[in-house]
Amino acid sequence: MTVDTRALRNSFGNFVTGVTLVTTVGSDGKPIAMTANSFSSVSLDPPLVLWCIDKGSDRLGIYQQAQHFAINVLAANHQELSGRFAKKGQPYMDGVDYAVWETGCPVIPDAVAIFECDKLASHDAGDHIIYIGYVRRFQTPETAGKPLVFHRGAYCALA
Ligand SMILES: Cc1cc2nc3c(=O)[nH]c(=O)nc-3n(C[C@H](O)[C@H](O)[C@H](O)COP(=O)(O)O)c2cc1C
Repeated sequence: MTVDTRALRNSFGNFVTGVTLVTTVGSDGKPIAMTANSFSSVSLDPPLVLWCIDKGSDRLGIYQQAQHFAINVLAANHQELSGRFAKKGQPYMDGVDYAVWETGCPVIPDAVAIFECDKLASHDAGDHIIYIGYVRRFQTPETAGKPLVFHRGAYCALA
């Protein structure tokens, strides 16, 4: 079967998602981030999550070697941050307000949720790799505002 990938991508885009920054530390010790909406919760016990990276990503090598990553669920006011870390060649977090948790992963303090993970497994899946994370620490700020929302290739807000 020949797949019209553009049509398929558009169809996938009808599934409304949040937006995350997946952060980690490079082998040079520099904090790294990437915008991703492929995040999903997987299991409560044990606590597992997943996200997927495009094999064509320039950041693939960094996430392949990383033992840990943090999922930062972005707030409605984080659209600029999302745009910045969706650009090629700009993985470094210079000038971003972040904290560092136990694994060394940078986290965005005003994200609506944060999940710090051990990378438990990676699975080859077509043109992507699926990373499974074991959640070792998480945070949901009481003051968490509304999340950033993505639908049909555009940012939107909850009513
Ligand atoms: C809202 C949004 C969600 C994205 N989700 C993913 C994702 O889940 N996985 C992925 O590999 N790329 C995703 N991307 C694209 C990457 O952010 C982008 O390709 C990357 O940061 C820049 O390219 P590079 O990794 O080749 O430097 C997404 C982009 C946007 C704007």
